[in-house]
Amino acid sequence: MWRFFVRKFLIAGNWKMHGSITEASALLENLKQNTIASTDVTTLVLPTFVHLQLAHELIGNASIKLGAQDLYPGTTGAFTGEVSGRMLKDIGCEYVLIGHSERRTILGESLSLVSEKFKAALNAGLKPILCIGETRAQREQGETESLLREQLVSVITSAGIETFASAVIAYEPVWAIGTGLTATPEEAQEVHKYIRQVLAEYDASIAKKMIVLYGGSMKADNAASLLAMPDIDGGLIGGASLDAAQFNKILSVANQIATETHPVLGDKG
Ligand code: PGA
Repeated sequence: MWRFFVRKFLIAGNWKMHGSITEASALLENLKQNTIASTDVTTLVLPTFVHLQLAHELIGNASIKLGAQDLYPGTTGAFTGEVSGRMLKDIGCEYVLIGHSERRTILGESLSLVSEKFKAALNAGLKPILCIGETRAQREQGETESLLREQLVSVITSAGIETFASAVIAYEPVWAIGTGLTATPEEAQEVHKYIRQVLAEYDASIAKKMIVLYGGSMKADNAASLLAMPDIDGGLIGGASLDAAQFNKILSVANQIATETHPVLGDKG
């Protein structure tokens, strides 16, 4: 399949505000035992700020990448309670979530703040995972595409399309997050394709290489059908990432799909 020439699966566990030191350690120890170095699948965990140092130490040389769930768009200064990209980089992070729907809705993050955070991540040498998605009401009103376009274009205009070469996008139908509802693979594929189309209006090569994750109740039992879709390049997984057995299963499904569909010489179909 063509995408494996240019895009590797990324399976990311968004731990949200969960876990104690004991739980985070147990989860990571389990993942470490099961994660294999893979040329087709990148494994990423996104613990809370307070568990990042612990996670970094526990990961050691294992093939697991580390990321954070948010940052503040400044380098240093009087910003009580905030954490900068530079600090995240210093502690061993490679990735950071930007504009997760819970931050947009619960914390009221605006389009412009999301863009500032995106740029701050890049300036700190982190890969931003830009989260975009629509609510159930917006979907029912037929606003999905216009909303996704608005969320994307706002960052493209502010940061420049070229910066997307170092970014990842996560499509998160807000109505499917933590609800047990999942977009059907076909519904998700349609939106992922649309996201790639919008990017292609600015830069076709970046669009082709962009890793677009699906986030919204991806679990061990629906991962295979979602990951088999041509424009779905991995998952941003909340609930199921806290359960080592489920997360490991999703990783092995991704590895299996990548192996089965890995292109043979001359096959770019
Ligand atoms: P969920 O969360 O898998 O629990 O729906 C996904 C996310 O918000 O990252």
